[in-house]
Amino acid sequence: MITAFPFGTLPDGTSATRYRLQAAPDAYADILDYGATVQGLVLPDRNGRPVDIVLGYDTLEGYVSGDCYFGATVGRCANRIGNAAFTIDGKTYSLDANDGRNHLHGGLEGFDRRMFRAEIAGDTLRLSLVSPDGDQGYPGRLSLTVEYSFDERRVLTVRFRGETDKDTVVNLTNHSYFDLSGGQAPMEQVLWLRADRFCENDENTLPTGKLLPVQGTPFDFTTEKPLSRDLNAKDPLLLSCNGYDHNFDLGGGGTLQPAARLSSGVTGIAMTLSTDMPGVQLYTGNFVHGTGKGGREYRSHDAVCLEPQFFPNAMAVADFEKPILRAGETYDRTIVYAFHTEA
Ligand code: GLA
Repeated sequence: MITAFPFGTLPDGTSATRYRLQAAPDAYADILDYGATVQGLVLPDRNGRPVDIVLGYDTLEGYVSGDCYFGATVGRCANRIGNAAFTIDGKTYSLDANDGRNHLHGGLEGFDRRMFRAEIAGDTLRLSLVSPDGDQGYPGRLSLTVEYSFDERRVLTVRFRGETDKDTVVNLTNHSYFDLSGGQAPMEQVLWLRADRFCENDENTLPTGKLLPVQGTPFDFTTEKPLSRDLNAKDPLLLSCNGYDHNFDLGGGGTLQPAARLSSGVTGIAMTLSTDMPGVQLYTGNFVHGTGKGGREYRSHDAVCLEPQFFPNAMAVADFEKPILRAGETYDRTIVYAFHTEA
């Protein structure tokens, strides 16, 4: 069942709405039309107490002034594009340099800052947006829908679909910050990642193009371990960005399959993330800040992001799969978050 509640007004007078997707009496997701954002995600802990497992704000104001992308739909191209430019079919397009000299998360007015049009279709919330030709520098008019459903098995599905009238770059993700411990021990969350390799980053968190084996490094999550175990290891790749902020290789995209599993021993809440994207960015909230829900002061490492996506800077690296959407083709990618509570 989906119900709608007012969620404030933008400076230009547009009203925002929060949609509650009730999966079960004790499980729901709150989704905003602003940024097609996951604002809240509530699951029961092992004693049946409700726990909100994502960071975010109580007010629209928080989202408008915040810069952490809490729960947002990120695009047109999630993550970084080196030197804020890319070339398709011999033509170079310049984008906003909003992360040093690089482009991050779709630019200054990325999709996280857009008002989507909402439509309730049974148990699915369909959010749509038209991104005009030249939006933030990207070519082509992109029509996009983000569909959310949260079913009685406690499976939250996010499906992104898009079409363009000119060849363009599209790489969409959801930027939820998960803390399945509900504020008690975020870096004690235990993570498994189906990745044998990860992207080496330069000092600006931009992939160098080199894929490194995880084996024998702090980046090995092929056997599950708490995030805290190697977070403070004296590894230059961790030290340069204050924690994990790296893309992991899922061995090619195209088929929806489990990529990660996250759980908290404190609450018993566990999540399996499946995706058909070729990579997943692991970000331990290294620069999280601001006053969040319930007046809580957020700090570094208060949550973890697992953002399915194409490898960052893929347009510039010969071997990386290209996030190109051709005119006339359909972009169609899915993220599935399946929850359960362990005794
Ligand atoms: C991504 C990036 C991080 C940071 C966050 C948003 O995860 O990789 O470096 O920009 O988004 O704060």
